[in-house]
Amino acid sequence: MRITTQPSNTCVLVTGGCGFIGSHTVVVLLQQGVEVVIVDDLSNSSEKVLDRIDQIVGADAAEKLTFYQADVNDREALDAVFDAHTIDAVIHFAGFKAVGESVQKPIEYYSNNIGNTLTLVDAMRAHGCKSIIFSSSATVYGDPDELPLTEASPKKPATNPYGWTKWMIEEILGSLVVADPEWNVVLLRYFNPIGAHPSGLMGEDPKGIPNNLLPYVAQVAVGRRDAVHVFGNDYDTPDGTGVRDYIHVMDLAEGHAAALTWMAGRTGCEVFNLGTGQGTSVLEIVKAFSAACGRDLPYVIEPRRAGDVTANYADCTKAREQLGWEARYNIADMCRDSWNWQSTNPNGYEG
Ligand code: UFG
Repeated sequence: MRITTQPSNTCVLVTGGCGFIGSHTVVVLLQQGVEVVIVDDLSNSSEKVLDRIDQIVGADAAEKLTFYQADVNDREALDAVFDAHTIDAVIHFAGFKAVGESVQKPIEYYSNNIGNTLTLVDAMRAHGCKSIIFSSSATVYGDPDELPLTEASPKKPATNPYGWTKWMIEEILGSLVVADPEWNVVLLRYFNPIGAHPSGLMGEDPKGIPNNLLPYVAQVAVGRRDAVHVFGNDYDTPDGTGVRDYIHVMDLAEGHAAALTWMAGRTGCEVFNLGTGQGTSVLEIVKAFSAACGRDLPYVIEPRRAGDVTANYADCTKAREQLGWEARYNIADMCRDSWNWQSTNPNGYEG
């Protein structure tokens, strides 16, 4: 076990490190002095994010970053990375993430997300690295019986292949620990990550029509789309629209850094919710974003979207008590930073 509580002695492989959550986490790690190796095939991200990371962290910290353009499912490429670096721990973000697309392309989703995880952990085992943090999701809780959700809340059947991949990868990583108690697994269940780096240099840059609420709202704000489509206003919530626990991507990034420090010297499998504990409705988001961008954003009410739950939000007591981590940003901050990113990069990284 080579992870130490001294970040400057630690080297972390970040799969999917050019993506939305990955890139923000890389910034936080580099700023703590951690050496970072990114493996990303750029299938849903831009290499330009690497320049932005350099700009944010500065030349000295950026020296500790290495990028490999490779598919995590490419075992030879992974072996070369593990041969070239002494990797202490892996943070595994790489995966397909569009819920609707996963319904159309189940083979691709299962093969990519589960396949790359199996390839990754086999390569880790072969190189004696048994510490992994996995990007899981509140989607594993399905339609909750009780709120807020704690880590002890039951996992419920997923409603789409994307959700099942998160569900199953959690089980796969749990099985590793049962088979070999030297494994050290942390499953981070994210609620709804939004926002952007406060510098405006990095943010979410979905390809095509955004599936998620915030990037859609941001594109309406910048004039790329006409109106927000609100999926259902007849839910059993205060204003009838769906309620979620939105969390600033920088808080999420800090949560990964806290988990990395916490897992040093441990073994086993632990789960943590990463959210704010606050539920916010779709209409409250539209209002908050309107305030951030300075004009009332138009919206239209549409039927409910298949597979959506009424409400979910987290109880984050465990992360606070054990990781010493707590979300700091509120919805106004999240919308401000998202707007700052979107308005200065109206077409994302390619703009
Ligand atoms: N919504 C709209 N209009 C849109 C998009 C979304 O009204 O254009 C609504 C949804 O109905 C929902 C809320 O906004 O009530 C949030 O929807 P998102 O698509 O932004 O997020 P989800 O909660 O559906 O899904 C997110 C992640 C998934 C993850 C899940 C975990 O995208 O990866 O949270 O709960 F699995």
